[in-house]
Amino acid sequence: MTAAPDWDGEECLLERDGPTGAWIAIAIHSTRLGPAVGGTRMREYPDARAALADARALAAAMTLKFALPGLPWGGGKGVLAVPPGLAPEARRGLLLRYGERLAALGGRFRTGPDVGTGSVDMDVIAETGAPWVFGRTPAAGGAGPSGPATAVGVFAAIGAACEEAFGDASPAGRTVLVQGAGSVGLPLAAALARAGAEVLVADPDPGALARAVAAGARPVAPEAVADTPADVFSPCALGAVIGPAEAERLRCRVVAGGANNPLTGPEAAAILARRGIVYAPDFVASAGGAMAGVRMEADGWDRARAEAEVAGRIGSTLREVFRDARRLGADPDTAARRLARERLEAAPPPDR
Ligand code: PHE
Repeated sequence: MTAAPDWDGEECLLERDGPTGAWIAIAIHSTRLGPAVGGTRMREYPDARAALADARALAAAMTLKFALPGLPWGGGKGVLAVPPGLAPEARRGLLLRYGERLAALGGRFRTGPDVGTGSVDMDVIAETGAPWVFGRTPAAGGAGPSGPATAVGVFAAIGAACEEAFGDASPAGRTVLVQGAGSVGLPLAAALARAGAEVLVADPDPGALARAVAAGARPVAPEAVADTPADVFSPCALGAVIGPAEAERLRCRVVAGGANNPLTGPEAAAILARRGIVYAPDFVASAGGAMAGVRMEADGWDRARAEAEVAGRIGSTLREVFRDARRLGADPDTAARRLARERLEAAPPPDR
């Protein structure tokens, strides 16, 4: 499979899984700084083309995630585009065949959990002998789910963006609207509530919403998100939730969340900037899970040290991005991409 001209990555693979009818898409965007790392996303897609496009876009975001905080890893992503109602045995079979694929890549792409997959799935993938599977269960020798560390990073991103917008990093007394109470949104909502923020949460899943409410959040209808006033909007569900129309409509001063690729494109970033809304680029704000994952499992750090680094580096990277954006008269998304490009170009060619 050759890369489309609008994708500047290194390698991608698209394959139908015979037994389940699922599509397996693997995109390796860059190994310039090191082997590519990125989660495996499992969900339904309209077709194989959409699955591959998502894998490519998400892989490119992973390259930025590691380049900006200065970690020696590249960007990749796996997508399993599954048919509706996949039975547990069929899911297991798919994950095993996918694991064999990863093993055959010889370490150029190393995966972890993402939307629709979790630590138990990582255990299954690792059963195939595919080495370097991040986020396995602690019982299997892994560091467990990546959501909590991602939430630590988003919390730090909200602080840095509030400092930029209000001159005060503390979330205490601020209203924060969290979209999605899943593996990132839930621990984030709980941490914000503990820190004294007024937390609003939207999630179409009643169970997830109930857990957020139990953690101290107030519920908001999912369709009311763009019209609900808040100091901070934190998208923590799927991507592409802020297009030009939403960027014009959002009633907040800060956007900082854990969702990957929440903007539909550069136009949305420009509109947010014009409206004076401080946008923390998603590939900085959401990097905590991957950052902590590689620190704990590849470098042997303990969780406390890894999470301290996540909070510190995401905060300092964002302050640098906001400074650059002001200096260049650019929006933060543009400034951050430019900074990442500089870091990638400055790197010597990979030696592993
Ligand atoms: N889902 C993570 C992300 O998108 C990927 C990941 C998790 C990678 C854990 C490594 C370890 O950033």
